[in-house]
Amino acid sequence: MLFVNAGITHGDLPIADVPTEMFTDVMVTNALSPMRVVEALRPLVVADGTIGVMSSRQGSLAHNTRGGQDAYRASKSALNQLMRSYAARYADAAHSLLLMCPGHVRTELGGPDAPLTADQVVPGIADTIDRHRGEPGLKYLDYQDHTMPW
Ligand SMILES: NC(=O)c1ccc[n+]([C@@H]2O[C@H](COP(=O)([O-])OP(=O)(O)OC[C@H]3O[C@@H](n4cnc5c(N)ncnc54)[C@H](OP(=O)(O)O)[C@@H]3O)[C@@H](O)[C@H]2O)c1
Repeated sequence: MLFVNAGITHGDLPIADVPTEMFTDVMVTNALSPMRVVEALRPLVVADGTIGVMSSRQGSLAHNTRGGQDAYRASKSALNQLMRSYAARYADAAHSLLLMCPGHVRTELGGPDAPLTADQVVPGIADTIDRHRGEPGLKYLDYQDHTMPW
């Protein structure tokens, strides 16, 4: 299994106030770089193995009814879009492709007020990844194995 987890946020500025450099940093880290890692390492993943990338509920267009976290949301939506293109490009591959949503978790990125701890969500993430092994194609799932709307 290959799982790409790294990601950043730079706070909650409205999009027109986000400095170009900050926007670029978030996009490069959260959308472009994971795809570079996936492309570079995919030959090492066994034929029925899994390639997962940490997305976010905030990457869902359908779930965006409140706004906020504009640059971060855009970067995770871009990541989802790029993984869809990746899945189309390698449609003949047997890899299980997963975009995962961990929930709102108390980490440096999630902040101290997040309702969930890593201990609460990591087993669900691991189980969800395992459950879909050997199922080719791309899925967008949360840590409880619910399908997320794009
Ligand atoms: N926490 C949440 O509520 C939440 C919700 C939805 C999605 N996510 C996603 O979950 C993933 C993990 O986030 P987290 O909450 O665990 O955040 P975190 O505690 O801030 O950890 C982020 C991780 O990403 C690494 N990283 C950041 N930029 C990097 C770079 N340029 N190169 C290599 N590694 C880099 C960091 O490494 P260093 O420590 O070495 O900097 C760190 O290990 C991210 O993709 C995030 O978007 C989190």
